[in-house]
Amino acid sequence: MRILSGMRPSGRLHIGHLSVLSNWLRLQEENECFFFVADWHALTTAFDETASIREHTREMLADWLAVGIDPDKSTVFVQSQILEHAELHLLFSMITPLSWLERVPTYKDQVQQLAARGKDITTYGFLGYPLLQAADILIYRADAVPVGQDQLPHLELCREVARRFNHLYRPVFPEPQALLAEEPLLPGVDGRKMSKSYGNEISLSAARDDVHKRVRMMITDPGRVRKHDPGRPEVCNVYTYQTIYNRELLEEITVSCREGRIGCVECKSRLAESLDAVLEPIRRRRAEILADPGYLNDVLARGREKATAAARETMALVRQAIRI
Ligand code: TRP
Ligand code: SF4
Repeated sequence: MRILSGMRPSGRLHIGHLSVLSNWLRLQEENECFFFVADWHALTTAFDETASIREHTREMLADWLAVGIDPDKSTVFVQSQILEHAELHLLFSMITPLSWLERVPTYKDQVQQLAARGKDITTYGFLGYPLLQAADILIYRADAVPVGQDQLPHLELCREVARRFNHLYRPVFPEPQALLAEEPLLPGVDGRKMSKSYGNEISLSAARDDVHKRVRMMITDPGRVRKHDPGRPEVCNVYTYQTIYNRELLEEITVSCREGRIGCVECKSRLAESLDAVLEPIRRRRAEILADPGYLNDVLARGREKATAAARETMALVRQAIRI
């Protein structure tokens, strides 16, 4: 299958992103994968704060490669380097009724949310966000798109646009399927959703001390006052993490917590050790990648070449179909 997915350049990724990335890693073993940084999409909301987009793009690419996205297996590229996405977006804009875009569930919500924070994003580009996404996907005639639940309405719009194009002109586009990964929602250190905007994340590149510090900040069973009080793992944020990062010790941790035989300080330090053991090789590899700008440039040049070739093939069919 041909698989495509992308992320907006949000800068350093955090451990909450590991489930998405491990899904990509699995997919790249048996499929033709395209993974790209959606830097034009960043402009839809951050058109007035562009200074960090390039830096964030490189940081994120370094994270992808550090966890094992392999440029020999997958095509890794930056959206704004493949101008054909813009051409297809423009052509799609000719056939897409405004009402389709206005009824995308996230649209009105986000406009309102940002308006409440004093930001007006009633732009043409923001309304067209999902249409640009459709162009990103369809230009590679992807069969499947691994995305989170929140992206399903965008995928639905993408399929509608493909159908409309195929019907108006001639069948060029397959209708891509969403590949939903189960998302084990890992909360942030304060128990809320993990997000950079809350400052409660543990980043993939966190230094060892920082990992320990952030784990120490986590909230445990609030009913446990003294070390020997019996604990309730089911209400403990640290425990949620242990189920992922200390699977082998889980049984023991569960029992010792319930029986008050392990203190939260020790429990946290075990978690921090295991978490750090996962992050250590990522951190090392990431530093190597960022220390060698030539390497990243080379990866992107190869990605650009492969993506351009695939995009041009589709655009030739598209222009023939439209007769333009
Ligand atoms: N909208 C996606 C997100 O916010 C990013 C994205 C842009 C994307 N184009 C895409 C994802 C194409 C998958 C396919 O995460
Ligand atoms: Fe949570 Fe561990 Fe403390 Fe139990 S011992 S409450 S699992 S931190």
